[in-house]
Amino acid sequence: MRHEKQLAEYAGMIETALDRLLPLEGRKQDSVMEAMRYSVLGGGKRLRGAFVLEFCRISGGEPVTALPYACALEMVHAYSLIHDDLPCMDNDDMRRGKPSCHRAFGEATALLAGDGLLNRAFEVAVSREAADSLPAETVLRLIRELSGAAGVFGMIGGQCMDLAYDGRVPDLATLDDLIALKTGALIRVACRMGCVAGGADETRIAAADTFGACLGRAFQIRDDMLDVEGDAAVLGKATHADERQGKTTYPALIGMDACRREVNRLTGEAVAALEGFDEREFLTELAWSLANRLK
Ligand code: IPE
Ligand code: IPE
Ligand code: MG
Ligand code: MG
Ligand code: MG
Repeated sequence: MRHEKQLAEYAGMIETALDRLLPLEGRKQDSVMEAMRYSVLGGGKRLRGAFVLEFCRISGGEPVTALPYACALEMVHAYSLIHDDLPCMDNDDMRRGKPSCHRAFGEATALLAGDGLLNRAFEVAVSREAADSLPAETVLRLIRELSGAAGVFGMIGGQCMDLAYDGRVPDLATLDDLIALKTGALIRVACRMGCVAGGADETRIAAADTFGACLGRAFQIRDDMLDVEGDAAVLGKATHADERQGKTTYPALIGMDACRREVNRLTGEAVAALEGFDEREFLTELAWSLANRLK
């Protein structure tokens, strides 16, 4: 399939750049850098980074100019996963097919590795290398987008709601708000940032936003489904973790069949939002593959 080849190419670009941006240099702080590298390198589908690069390309930009922002977003995502797995949050032992960061390095180092990745992301976003290939106001906009999506009005806000509903049953509208933030925010901003880096107009940014918002919701519903019916060995993380933690998920609220329909409906809506872009084959194929993904 063509989208798999393109995704692998983007993932390769992102991983090579991440490896360079997170060097081990024989310093005293190498132990935290090792934990950062352990979590952000060598695993993960690189979806968010790929959305940054592809939306940049189909907006008429050069994907390589958006690469620092793809890396920054993957760092923010990896940090969110490190903290999400901590005992004080989801208490998960496996991530990306290996022990989660705190299981491998201890809680204190995992906490610092998460913080380290978050800060490094913004260091990279404002670096000379990033800023030299884009106009200053574009760089500013990208940083505004990323910081907003990662913060308390974005992903962190969603994680906060997720904790607040531990052991309580949210209604569907509340669950929708929760997943739109905890997962949707970073996926949406990936699409938006790609457009911004590629010089798209506001109409196209809004279309990419709709794509990201619909796909983000579908993605989390599929994640919740895989927690019920997935294979831990394929997923690289534990299954039945949501039930164990008393989390109310989409399958618990509406059942698996309705989830399947909802994922398909949202994916259709996401793909329809791409109409204004001439080149949408990769994103269309990728979106449908995610609706049926096993990992
Ligand atoms: C996992 O995201 C966390 C959720 C938002 C469900 P991904 O499934 O994209 O994780 P990686 O990056 O591929 O490991
Ligand atoms: C993850 O949601 C959302 C973030 C990390 C921000 P989940 O808690 O469902 O993700 P997994 O299942 O641990 O990957
Ligand atoms: Mg969680
Ligand atoms: Mg989790
Ligand atoms: Mg999950």
